[in-house]
Amino acid sequence: MVKLKNRQWRLANHPVGMIKESDFNWVEEEVEYELQEGELLVKNYYLSLDPANRSWISASPKSHYIEPVKIGDVMRGITIGQVIESKNPKYDKGEYVIGTLGWQDYSVSKGSGLINISLLPKPEGVSITIYLNVLGMIGLTAYFGLLEIGKPKVGETLVVSAAAGAVGSLVGQIGKIKGCRVIGIAGTEEKCKWLTEELKFDGAINYKTESVYKRLKELCPNGIDIYYENVGGKILDAALANLAVYARIPVCGMISKYNLTELQPGPSNIVQIVTKRALMQGFIVNDFLGRISEAMLDLMTWFNEGKLKYREHIVQGLENAPRAINMLFDGSNKGKLIIQIAKEPT
Ligand SMILES: NC(=O)c1ccc[n+]([C@@H]2O[C@H](COP(=O)([O-])OP(=O)(O)OC[C@H]3O[C@@H](n4cnc5c(N)ncnc54)[C@H](OP(=O)(O)O)[C@@H]3O)[C@@H](O)[C@H]2O)c1
Repeated sequence: MVKLKNRQWRLANHPVGMIKESDFNWVEEEVEYELQEGELLVKNYYLSLDPANRSWISASPKSHYIEPVKIGDVMRGITIGQVIESKNPKYDKGEYVIGTLGWQDYSVSKGSGLINISLLPKPEGVSITIYLNVLGMIGLTAYFGLLEIGKPKVGETLVVSAAAGAVGSLVGQIGKIKGCRVIGIAGTEEKCKWLTEELKFDGAINYKTESVYKRLKELCPNGIDIYYENVGGKILDAALANLAVYARIPVCGMISKYNLTELQPGPSNIVQIVTKRALMQGFIVNDFLGRISEAMLDLMTWFNEGKLKYREHIVQGLENAPRAINMLFDGSNKGKLIIQIAKEPT
């Protein structure tokens, strides 16, 4: 038996609009962990904050693609942690795992849905958080959405929204690897500069200071062949108005909609799907779970070749999770948003 102090965020109520700290309860308690056969105890070091977290706690069933978090439950979240006790033959004490282990210091798991990252190859000199990013759910989302639905061809024009974010920045870089002209849409000058100067995008549009419609017209004179959608709303409308014939639109997310309290009409340019014979298809990364190894091989190769760069935005302290998550919605995150819950042992 192990006795430990656990700290958790539990859902207090379904948020209305932006998430508030009062939507969660902070619980600190001494817990005596007595593992059953097949169970393991994990100490969490890093917590991934993702736009999808908002839909997991929404009261509206329309936004649920998996079972919502129930009031009183520990908030769901993907973590990286270390096994500190194990009665599961697949996991040894000391190994690192990634899984949906929640907004808490310690989690008991039966092992289902966990990935033993100690068994995976890791590039030299990078933090283990790369498994929450390029070599994790983020990389897989960019990879499958772009390649399976976008089907990029050499010389085509790819436009991506939320382009300086975790998914968007990888989408653009994979597009470059596949020989596309890539235009990114982002919300600050700094982000736009990072896209063109560091990631070598062919153009960037600041949607807060420029007309997205006009700039897309200038930057994509032959139309948009692939619009990788992360945002929705006015940006989607501007992209629809600039499509090329036979365009593809992988719909990865619509972050501008996640905190709305009432549905808005639109998109007003949807008729362009007909006139341009375009394909628009939504997807969830879990649809591709059976094909993780092929994607990981490519992502690892491209990363080792220096073709995939990434930024991380690490916020210290589990206690800051409910406040930090709103950075995804006000755009103040620069790269993959992660909470560091505890320091890894050196
Ligand atoms: N389908 C799937 O399986 C799947 C999996 C993972 C993620 N996703 C989706 O992928 C998208 C990106 O997620 P991520 O984890 O990579 O987050 P991220 O891009 O790192 O962060 C979110 C970014 O969205 C932008 N944004 C927020 N509100 C906006 C608004 N109203 N209008 C325009 N831009 C806005 C902000 O950047 P700016 O500063 O540029 O505004 C913010 O930094 C989200 O839509 C998410 O739901 C889907």
